[in-house]
Amino acid sequence: MAGSGTAHMRSTDSPVLTVDDLVVEFPVGRKQKVHAVSGLNLDLLPGETLGILGESGCGKSTAGRAVMQLPSPTSGRVHLGERELTGLKTRDLRKARARMQMIMQDPTSSLNPRRKVKDLVAEGLAIWGFDGTAEEKEARIRETLTAVGLDPTVVWDRRPHELSGGQCQRVCIARALMMNPKVLICDEPVSALDVSVQAQILNLLERTKEQYDLSMIFIAHDVSVVKNISDRVMVLYLGKTCEVIPSGDMETRAAHPYTRMLLASIPGAGDREVASSAAAVELPSPLNPPSGCRFRTRCPLATERCAAEEPELRELHPGQFVACHHPVG
Ligand SMILES: Nc1ncnc2c1ncn2[C@@H]1O[C@H](COP(=O)(O)OP(=O)(O)O)[C@@H](O)[C@H]1O
Ligand code: SF4
Ligand SMILES: [Mg+2]
Repeated sequence: MAGSGTAHMRSTDSPVLTVDDLVVEFPVGRKQKVHAVSGLNLDLLPGETLGILGESGCGKSTAGRAVMQLPSPTSGRVHLGERELTGLKTRDLRKARARMQMIMQDPTSSLNPRRKVKDLVAEGLAIWGFDGTAEEKEARIRETLTAVGLDPTVVWDRRPHELSGGQCQRVCIARALMMNPKVLICDEPVSALDVSVQAQILNLLERTKEQYDLSMIFIAHDVSVVKNISDRVMVLYLGKTCEVIPSGDMETRAAHPYTRMLLASIPGAGDREVASSAAAVELPSPLNPPSGCRFRTRCPLATERCAAEEPELRELHPGQFVACHHPVG
């Protein structure tokens, strides 16, 4: 798929998820609209973790939700395997979508506070019409709770408020796993957790991905976290892709000035002066994004061309795609 940055990878594997020209706009008043996601392309290969990185307000959550059709995007196509999700009616969509699960930032608010852990985890079984016995159902719940590092006997009858944030996120992961997903979309899954718990949940996600043979989209604003967990990283700015790069090449080869700015924000990184001057400028309004390159109002390398002409995503090195008229390096 043109411009997605993945065609060169394991070309024998067909993607588990393909997103073409995804656009999400929110109408504001009678005339204006928020350009939250403006033409996103990606494909996710089997077993891959694709990171989506960008500051708060760049459109990451909107993109993740639009892929899930929650709600459906303004335009664009989403294929889960061979199946096109866009345009499916409610019942078919609910079934098809079950193979794709989302983990949200705030685990406590994504769980019904009145329900017990055993029921929260069992909910998914009803959706895909599990027809086993009560014993089989219970065994399945116990097995899944154990897989996410919870002791079923301890948490079985607890409600979310009796659990820590980390435990709640484990319950959310268990709920997702009950659906037999192929794709897990994690939207800032550790941002709301204590630092001491973050690493545990990240490890759990990596282990779960292997054990359940999943592919993962990992959304976050934290460069270090995204870089460590992902195979490839897609950098998003005001709803558009700036760069797609193998995570191992980020430190040495990142070529988009925005990616460089984000990298320089990691404590201890070099290149700080350029970065901090750009970082100090606010994100422009997505109601009226800058002409040409959307990053130009903060870019230390911007020229007249950047205001006049939108840079297209093109391959700079094998596996690295950049949308910039004057890439760094
Ligand atoms: N339902 C909505 N209505 C109007 N604007 C929205 C809505 N949801 C998100 N936005 C706007 O879309 C932009 C992208 O938001 P979001 O996807 O939440 O970014 P991120 O997850 O990267 O922080 C922001 O400007 C946000 O205010
Ligand atoms: S196109 Fe121009 S403004 Fe945009 S990132 Fe590249 S140099 Fe900066
Ligand atoms: Mg978000």
